[in-house]
Amino acid sequence: MIANGDIDSPQRAAQVLRETGADAVMVGRAAQGRPWIFREIGHFLATGETLPAPAIGEVRDILLDHLQALHAFYGEEQGVRIARKHLGWYAKDQPENMAFRAVVNRAQTACEQILLTRDYFDALQAGTQPALYAA
Ligand SMILES: Cc1cc2nc3c(=O)[nH]c(=O)nc-3n(C[C@H](O)[C@H](O)[C@H](O)COP(=O)(O)O)c2cc1C
Repeated sequence: MIANGDIDSPQRAAQVLRETGADAVMVGRAAQGRPWIFREIGHFLATGETLPAPAIGEVRDILLDHLQALHAFYGEEQGVRIARKHLGWYAKDQPENMAFRAVVNRAQTACEQILLTRDYFDALQAGTQPALYAA
């Protein structure tokens, strides 16, 4: 038996497992743009401790791998289109994300999408405003 629905944190996963007696939990929307939620839940269930949020450089690396996997799996045209919604989910809690999305959504090629994404997250990691995207 797998419990599912509105599980958006390790604490919530533990609570649902406790209250339902289910064998496992399944996470949908809360994993969008946040795939490390699975290791956070696993760690919390195993140790009772909360993992720190991933550093921006790790978010960048996970996202770039994800983009490459989408491009490889769906092919360039469809992959670039499908990747746009994932970019929105990953960026939603980052500064200047609306400007980033406006720019990156115009990317037509896999290469362009990856370079724009890498530059945006590199600027965030360097602590500089990703001013490139403000125009
Ligand atoms: C992008 C997305 C795709 C989904 N696709 C399916 C599907 O193909 N079949 C299905 O039974 N449920 C599907 N669902 C529903 C989820 O399995 C889940 O029941 C629902 O999202 C509630 O869980 P959540 O609160 O963790 O998102 C999908 C949900 C999302 C967000």
